[in-house]
Amino acid sequence: MSVLALRDVVKTYGDVGALRGVTLDVADGELVAVVGPSGSGKSTMLNIIGTLDRPTSGTLHIAGDDVGTMRDDELSALRALHIGFVFQHFHLQPGATAAENVADGLLYADVARRVRRRRAVEALERVGLGHRVDHLPNQLSGGEQQRVAIARAIVGDPTILLADEPTGALDTASGTAILEVLRELNSAGTTVLVITHDLELAASLPRQVRMRDGLVEQDSAGGDAAELAAAIAGGAR
Ligand SMILES: Nc1ncnc2c1ncn2[C@@H]1O[C@H](COP(=O)(O)OP(=O)(O)OP(=O)(O)O)[C@@H](O)[C@H]1O
Ligand SMILES: [Mg+2]
Repeated sequence: MSVLALRDVVKTYGDVGALRGVTLDVADGELVAVVGPSGSGKSTMLNIIGTLDRPTSGTLHIAGDDVGTMRDDELSALRALHIGFVFQHFHLQPGATAAENVADGLLYADVARRVRRRRAVEALERVGLGHRVDHLPNQLSGGEQQRVAIARAIVGDPTILLADEPTGALDTASGTAILEVLRELNSAGTTVLVITHDLELAASLPRQVRMRDGLVEQDSAGGDAAELAAAIAGGAR
């Protein structure tokens, strides 16, 4: 079953066509790399999938529901249930501990305060930070801060985890560790879409979607997957 279905999605900003007709299906449990040059529409597409933004035209179905027909409160509920988001810059609250930052991910999920703390600690354990729950962000390394951000994104157990260049602000070793966390979450059943400029990293994932000028230029699911992975890895050298 498609957990995500975009049909002819267009997004314009003034006279800029950020997306010019994107059609994409992602099945439950996939791990997809989104690549493409700067300005090709990767973040715009992820923001629309994450319902942070609405398409100018075209349709988006998430877990079978047509997002375009939903009211804002229905959309908030859908987001709380299905979507986790991770950004390049971690966006943690500086005055809040790791556990408090993660518990914020449950604010819209109607979970009692005490339960929030327990689930936050469990999410931190899942990303390997069980020993850092009461640290403040400035007491954590960049890679650890990004793991807190991932824990916050997954604490509500979302269907889909969206990550916009999650390794972009990290050194190679920390970035590799973050990717390992994403792989583990995917193995446990979460559908993951990750934007990356690291073409070797992208080529190591099961599926690659390449964007250009607001369109999906190439999708390994639609053609010869091994060939595209090789082409993308080749471009990295
Ligand atoms: N809020 C906005 N207002 C106006 N134009 C925008 C807005 N957001 C994106 N754009 C434009 O839409 C196009 C696609 O931008 P987008 O951020 O999706 O690219 P990207 O592929 O994520 O690039 P990068 O790799 O640099 O992050 C760009 O031309 C950009 O300038
Ligand atoms: Mg971007």
